[in-house]
This record gives sequence, structure tokens and C-alpha cells, in this order.
Amino acid sequence: MADGAENQAVPTEDESRRDFLLHATVATGAVGVVVSMWPLINSMNPAADTLALSSVEASLAGLEEGQAITISWRGKPVFVRYRTAAEIEEARSERWQDMPDPQPDEERVQNDKYLIVIGVCTHLGCIPLGQKTTEIRGDYGGYFCPCHGSHYDLSARIRRGPAPTNLEVPEYTFLSETNIRIG
Ligand code: FES
Repeated sequence: MADGAENQAVPTEDESRRDFLLHATVATGAVGVVVSMWPLINSMNPAADTLALSSVEASLAGLEEGQAITISWRGKPVFVRYRTAAEIEEARSERWQDMPDPQPDEERVQNDKYLIVIGVCTHLGCIPLGQKTTEIRGDYGGYFCPCHGSHYDLSARIRRGPAPTNLEVPEYTFLSETNIRIG
């Protein structure tokens, strides 16, 4: 005997309507997820202007000895410092073999007078001070990161503090005596 069939409830009009509303809500929710994911997925594609900035050209013609400029490249500051003869001499007079991240100054510059490095501390990513002559430059005359006290020298090599490595030298090319392309 089909007891189950006898006991099976026939959905009332109200229940059918509730089911319909439930399905409609789930369907709308699914569409909502797809729609809200699109901007996220779209934002993962590099925008045209971002691609255009994968390299940047700059003129150093207006820069005078002792001055510095900061160039924005791929969202990072690139420090360019026109070093004086005394600063170059100081950067080369020290024993680089004993430094925390040993590297001779000659390997960090293409043109002795222009020090070009990414201005992001290699400890936790703060932007060090020292681009302006009025800023603290640390115990070695280069840059000082006040976040946790990293001192960089005139070749932007880490000399004291928690930063594990020297400030990074970006890929760059001298297009002429005073024009550079970074990236
Ligand atoms: S981020 Fe520069 S010392 Fe910590």
C-alpha cells in the first residue's frame, strides 16, 4: 500500500510561491557574484598606462653637483643623486668586503657621479630619508631609514641597522650624457 504517497504533502499555493522566490533569490545571488567578480578579474590585467610606465625616461641635465631628484617608476621612487667628487672618493675609500652586503661602488654605478637606486628600504619597505640636503642622511652620509634605523652609505649600501641588503639598483640605460631610461 502506498502509505508514503498518501502522506506526501501536496504543496499549497503559498509553499510553491516560497519555492519560486527561493530559487529566484539563489539565481540572483549567483549573478551578483559573477558581476561583482568582474571588476576584480579586470583589475588583474595590467592597464595600458601601467604597461606604458614599465620604462621611464628622464633628463638629468638640470641636476647640479650635490643635488638629487626622485623619479617615479612602476610605483616606486627611484633616487638619483649627483655625487660630489668627495662623496665618490668616500664611497670608494671604505673596505666594501667587510660590509653587510659586500659590493664595490664601481659595480653599483654606470657613471661615477650619478648614484641611481630604488628608494625603498630593504628591511620592511619604508622610504628612506636623504634625498634632500636638509634630511637626516644617517651615519654614512647616504640615506637613513627612520622606521627601524637602517643607515646606508654614499653608494646606498647598508652599513648598519636591520635592512639585510643594499638599496636595489634598477635596470637603467644612459641614452646620452644626461638622459636615462629606467626599466
Ligand atoms: S623599513 Fe627601513 S629600517 Fe625597517
